[in-house]
Amino acid sequence: MKDKPIIILGIESSCDDTSAAVIRDGYLLSNVTASQAVHEAYGGVVPELASRAHQQNIVPVVDQALKRAGVAKDELSAIAFTRGPGLMGSLLVGVSFAKGFAASLGIPMIEVNHLQGHVLAHFIKEKETPSSLPLKGEGGQPPFPFLCLLVSGGNSQIVLVKAYNDMQIIGQTIDDAAGEAIDKCSKVMGLGYPGGPIIDRLARQGNPDAYHFAKPAIEGYNYSFSGLKTSFLYNLRDWLKDDPDFIEHHKEDLAASLEKTIVDILMNKLRRAAKDLKIKHVAVAGGVSANTGLREAFKDHARRYGWAIYIPKFSYTTDNAAMIAITGAFKYADKDFCPMEAPAYSRMDNGQLKIEN
Ligand code: KG4
Repeated sequence: MKDKPIIILGIESSCDDTSAAVIRDGYLLSNVTASQAVHEAYGGVVPELASRAHQQNIVPVVDQALKRAGVAKDELSAIAFTRGPGLMGSLLVGVSFAKGFAASLGIPMIEVNHLQGHVLAHFIKEKETPSSLPLKGEGGQPPFPFLCLLVSGGNSQIVLVKAYNDMQIIGQTIDDAAGEAIDKCSKVMGLGYPGGPIIDRLARQGNPDAYHFAKPAIEGYNYSFSGLKTSFLYNLRDWLKDDPDFIEHHKEDLAASLEKTIVDILMNKLRRAAKDLKIKHVAVAGGVSANTGLREAFKDHARRYGWAIYIPKFSYTTDNAAMIAITGAFKYADKDFCPMEAPAYSRMDNGQLKIEN
């Protein structure tokens, strides 16, 4: 008799995306995400509005994910959910839903650390296009140990990944995240939100060496982006005194120079970490990994330093539940379940990427 398939429902609600995904025997069947346009008018995520939108979205998103997967709820083996870190009001919606659903179905719950999920997005497999096949060093599943540059609106970290459940943050931002810096600089230029894709598009038409902004001198593998943000703001203020239309006249060069500065800062530390630890398998994850300049820099490093690089499919770089479901599948195999009392957590201790109890 054939073994019963292992079917995991993943739920992600840590920031402003409500997402649900279904994975059967390690393969992704569906991944449904409802993004929240409501924040655009404010130039950033408004936590109270985010949690309200999650409440409206969670039931239809889960329903769609199950329907698209062709899976009935009583076929589920377990529910994996993002327990933290993230916005508390947002997390609570997903965590409470997961608990209620798991309890009503009498199935185990699996807590997932959001950052661990981002790193393990590299292991998402689609049946049609096996992402497990390495494409000349780009894409595919990295072998352990590997380094992962995790860059998003909330995180900028270098993670040493020794196993799916053994990760260590060896460097991280001491202030703003890279995506946050891009979004804020975009905001001061009066461009839209989120700024990342807009800066990326403009940068393609600009000169990356047109302007120079402050780069931090921080110890170890840590990052800092607040000085760059201030340098960008102060320079812009001076230039605007001479030419009130400065931004309009130079937005492509400003975007290209900003992008280059951020990519240089990110790659310098990553390169040093890879050299010190003698690791040649290097991955990138998180929303900022969609950036064209950063992707090019990865390819350039692969050529120059012999790195095997791993860049996930675009839809798995931003917040999504497929990465939560695949992490859940790894943990299910180890029967690593969590109790009903496990509360959401907004922050986590630095260092080891281990789950809080
Ligand atoms: O991982 P993510 O979806 O979630 C958060 O952590 O919020 O990352 C979102 C971040 C935002 O700061 C956004 O501006 C940035 O990723 N981003 C980009 C690009 N696409 C999204 N940054 C640079 N270039 C892009 N193409």
